[in-house]
Amino acid sequence: MDNFRIQGGATLKGRVRISGAKNAALPILCAALLADGDHVFRNVPNLMDVRTMGKLLRTMGLDAELADGTFSVRSRPVNEPVAPYDLVKQMRASVLVLGPLVARYGRASVSLPGGCAIGARPIDQHLKGLEAMGAQIRLQHGYVHVDVPKGRLQGAELVLDMPTVTGTENLMSAAVLARGRTTIVNAAREPEIEELALVLNKMGAQIEGAGTDVIVIQGVEGLDPVDHAIIADRIEAGTFMAAAAATQGDVFLDGVTFDHLEAVAAKLRQAGVVVEREGSGVRVAAEQRARGTDATTAPHPGFPTDMQAQFMVVMTTASGSSTIVETIFENRFMHVPELNRMGADISVSGRNAHVRGVATLQGAQVMATDLRASASLVIAGLVAEGTTEVLRVYHIDRGYERIEEKLSALGARIERVPGHA
Ligand code: EPU
Repeated sequence: MDNFRIQGGATLKGRVRISGAKNAALPILCAALLADGDHVFRNVPNLMDVRTMGKLLRTMGLDAELADGTFSVRSRPVNEPVAPYDLVKQMRASVLVLGPLVARYGRASVSLPGGCAIGARPIDQHLKGLEAMGAQIRLQHGYVHVDVPKGRLQGAELVLDMPTVTGTENLMSAAVLARGRTTIVNAAREPEIEELALVLNKMGAQIEGAGTDVIVIQGVEGLDPVDHAIIADRIEAGTFMAAAAATQGDVFLDGVTFDHLEAVAAKLRQAGVVVEREGSGVRVAAEQRARGTDATTAPHPGFPTDMQAQFMVVMTTASGSSTIVETIFENRFMHVPELNRMGADISVSGRNAHVRGVATLQGAQVMATDLRASASLVIAGLVAEGTTEVLRVYHIDRGYERIEEKLSALGARIERVPGHA
């Protein structure tokens, strides 16, 4: 597996183009299962997770191809509505095929994703929702088998215990072809949900309220293929914002939607960083060390859990201390021991991380087991004195398109060192 070698100390300066959003693309690609014909998805990032989704669609008999940011799908009835273990284990988001498959075929089998590095991550809310719409659920041999005895789902009122993102996406995608009306209460409000609803509505669905906590879906008889360009990745953008702040740089992020970045912008401003909306993008500039600033993760529009690790790196070299609280996932502080090995001063107690700002970090060999934690180590390497090696950047490749090229163009000294395995 490849590693990154980073020579710390450079200040990031310049302009960076933000790619299409991974977490918007994944459910949208699955929506192609809902309508036969030729779909065209533009501004799709070339990432491992997107390629895995392509593999999954092809396994089911669809043509799916990603070239130059355009993901083309020729959709046709699937041979078997099954997401096998070998693909689900590579990418939990494979579970996003469940809603479209059950809506369209009245049955689906998906390997259970199991736990992952950041927590247990059950899918009980997805399944409870489908059950309320008339599906029967059976767990057998590590697979969840969903079957709709009547053949077609029936609209229902679904009240989620927590605003799960992929759960809301799965249930919304399931409800579009159900008989009658479905209401999702306590729905997730992330921009990716709004984007999926926009695409489904372009395909002929009738969805209202996406982006609020109550989504109402009037089922329709059939959907049409779609041509759509995906929104920019707010977490990639946030990661570059954190990198600019941590290196006391001055970076313009091109092609982002500022409204999606409000919570991150507010936190960085509170920490003394300049964040300005400018034309088609956002400028982030820091002339001095950030100030210690507390942050608590929360569902959108709160501070995103996917930005917690990167923000923590900004806090490691801030003046003063801060407390960062992770409320979404129970095990999302794996970057902490690695950051401490680089000279940070962070102590964790349950869901709280207390960060005492230090003058500088020192380069080291580090490694993380999830995407955002790995990204935070790259930022730490940019700040640190000397050389940092971030091992197994496999995780970063799942979610960041050409990150080393984009950082180099901003003045970072980072190179990919090809691995042997
Ligand atoms: N949860 C349940 N039961 C469920 C569903 C969720 O208990 O049926 C719990 C989870 O265990 C977690 C919380 O609810 O504690 C929220 O999880 P959610 O379902 O919202 O997360 P997700 O849909 O699995 C998506 C993103 C994640 C992001 C989270 C939170 C995609 C493909 N993934 O995951 O992105 O962290 O929402 O915003 O959209 C990443 O990109 O690195 C990433 C992990």
